Amino acid sequence: MCGIIAYAGHRPAAPVLMEGLRRLEYRGYDSAGIALAQMKNINCFKAPGKLAALEDKLSAAPMPPLAGSGIGHTRWATHGVPNETNAHPHLSNNRRFALVHNGIIENYRELKERLTGLGYAFYSDTDTEVLVNLIEEERKNAPDNLTAFCNALLQAEGAFALALLCLDEPEAIYAARQNAPLVVGLGQGENFIASDLTAFLAYTRTVIFLEEGEIARISPRDCALADLRTLAPKDYAAQHIEWDVQSAQKGGYKHFMLKEIFEQPAVLRGALAGRINPDAGTLRLPELEGLSRPVRLRIVACGTSYNAGLWAAPLLEQWGGIPCAVEIASEFRYRKPILGRDELVILISQSGETADTLAALKVAAGNPCPTLGLCNVMGSSLARGAELVIYTQAGPEISVASTKALCSQMALLTLLALHWGSEGGLVPPERLKGLLADFAGLADILEKSLPSIAMEVKPLAERAANARNIFFLGRGQNFALAQEGALKLKELSYVHAEAYAAGEMKHGPIALIAPDFLTIALAPPDGHEAKIFSNIQEVAARGGPIIMLGRPDKNARFGREVALWSIPSCPEGFTGFVLLPMLQLLSYEAASYLGKDVDQPRNLAKSVTVE
Ligand code: AGP
Repeated sequence: MCGIIAYAGHRPAAPVLMEGLRRLEYRGYDSAGIALAQMKNINCFKAPGKLAALEDKLSAAPMPPLAGSGIGHTRWATHGVPNETNAHPHLSNNRRFALVHNGIIENYRELKERLTGLGYAFYSDTDTEVLVNLIEEERKNAPDNLTAFCNALLQAEGAFALALLCLDEPEAIYAARQNAPLVVGLGQGENFIASDLTAFLAYTRTVIFLEEGEIARISPRDCALADLRTLAPKDYAAQHIEWDVQSAQKGGYKHFMLKEIFEQPAVLRGALAGRINPDAGTLRLPELEGLSRPVRLRIVACGTSYNAGLWAAPLLEQWGGIPCAVEIASEFRYRKPILGRDELVILISQSGETADTLAALKVAAGNPCPTLGLCNVMGSSLARGAELVIYTQAGPEISVASTKALCSQMALLTLLALHWGSEGGLVPPERLKGLLADFAGLADILEKSLPSIAMEVKPLAERAANARNIFFLGRGQNFALAQEGALKLKELSYVHAEAYAAGEMKHGPIALIAPDFLTIALAPPDGHEAKIFSNIQEVAARGGPIIMLGRPDKNARFGREVALWSIPSCPEGFTGFVLLPMLQLLSYEAASYLGKDVDQPRNLAKSVTVE
C-alpha cells in the first residue's frame, strides 16, 4: 500500500514529511517524494528506491526547503513501473496543484482520454497524474479549490485516499477518502494528514479517522470536514490514541498477521478493482491482451502459492474449460517437463523472488510456451522475467505467514477462469453477470463475518493447539484449502498437521484415528457434503474427535465426537473465500495460545530466495 503524509504548521515541512515517510516505510515502497509550497512555486522532490535517495535530492536542492506545508508519499506501484516519473507527488500541467494518492482510479483511462483531448499532457503512467489534472480542469469553473477537488473526485471511480496542495492556498492541505484509510492529526499550531497515524504519532496523539466519503481541509490553525458529495460541513469527534508506534503500524492489531487477515475484504476489492463491472456484467484483464487462448495450463508455485493453484485448478477447468495441471516448483524445475507451444505456464508468487519458482520460470522460458506471472510485488524478478504479469494488488504482506496474498491469488485465478470461460462460451453472459455480482458482494460478506469468526475460533484453536497430530480433510477445492490449513497450523504453532483428500482415508490413513488424533473436516454446502459427511462418520465411529467446518441441514446427525463450526453463508462457488479466514484464524489463535512468535515463526523467511 502507498503511504501518505501531509503537514501544515509552524515547523519547516520537509523534515516533518521525511520523518513521516520513514515511519511509513514498513508498508513497503519502491519510490518516494515530497512537494512543498514555497512562495511562488510548488516544488517537487522525487526519487526511485529508498528514502536515502530522496534525502540526497533534498540536500542538493538550491533553496532551503523552509515551507510550512507540504505533502509526501511512499509509492507501492500499481500503475506504472517504479521510477522517478511515476513517483508521487504529481503536479498538474499548470503546476498549481500537487497530489499524492493511495488506491486505484478504475476509470482513469477514460478520464485521461478526455483531458488529452482538452490539451493536457501526461508524463507518467499513473492514474494519479490524471486526477490532479482533472482538478486543474475543474478549477476553471469552480468558485474555490474545495469545490474543484470535489467535482473532480465525483468523476473518479475506485479507491482513493488523497492529499492535495494548492499553490494559491499554500498553508492549506485538502484530503479525501473513499475505500482507503486516511487519518487527521491535530496538533498545537500544526495539523497532519496521513495513511496511518504512525506517520505523525511523534507530534500528536489527537486524531480524527476520516469516514468514507469525507473530505478535510487543514491549515496550521484549523481543521474542517465536509461531505464529499454535498460539501455540507461535518462535525467530528477527535480521539486520543494511546498506541505506541509498533502497534500503530499494526493498526491496533496485536500482530501483522491478524491485521492482514482482516485486510482481506479490502484486498478482494483491490483485486477486482478496475477488472470487473458487476452492473454491466463485464470483466476485463488487459494484461492478457495478445495472448491466444491456451490449450492447457500449467500452474507452478511453492507453499501457499502452490495451494492457490491447487484451489483454482477445478475452476479453470469447469468454468474456464481449459485442462489445468498444478506442480510444485522445486519438483518442476528438475523434471525436464514437456511444454507445448499452446500451453500457458502460470507462475504464482507473492514475493516474486522465490528461488524455486524463478528456476521454474527459467525452465518454462526455455520452451516455446508463454509464461504468466501472478505476483504481488511490482518490479520483482518474476514480474520482470515472465512474458506476461498480473498483479494481485494486495499491498505489502509483512507477516511471514501468507494470508491476504492467498486471498488475492484466489481472486485473480477466479477472474482468469471466468475470463476464459466467457471467451470460450462456457460461461454465457447472464451467468457471468450473476457470478460477477456474487463476487463483488463477497467483500461485504467477509467484512461482516470476520468478527464472529474471530470470536468463535478461540476454543477450537485451543483444541488444535493441544493436539499432537491433526488431519485436515477436504474434497475438491476444499482439499486444497485443507492443505493450506495444515500448512498454516504447522508453520505457526509447530503442531504436526497433514492434509488428506477425504476419500483417501479408507485407503490407509484411517488406521491412525484414535481419541487423541484430531480431525478438522472442511464440509461446506458445495455438493461434496454428502460424501464428506460419511467420511466424518467413519472417523467418529472409530472414536476420532472432529471439528467440522460446515453448514449441515437440520436432519444431519453427528455423534458427540463432532464439534460443528458453522460457515457463514455466501454465494455458491465462493465458499473458499470464507473458509480461508476460518483456517487462518484457527492457526493464528492456536499459535497465540501456545505463545509462539506469530509474525516471525522459527526457521522461516518471508521470501525463500535460496534453494
Ligand atoms: C506461506 O505461509 C509460507 N510462508 C510459504 O509457504 C510461502 O507461501 C512460499 O514460500 C511461497 O512464497 P511466494 O508466494 O512469495 O513465492
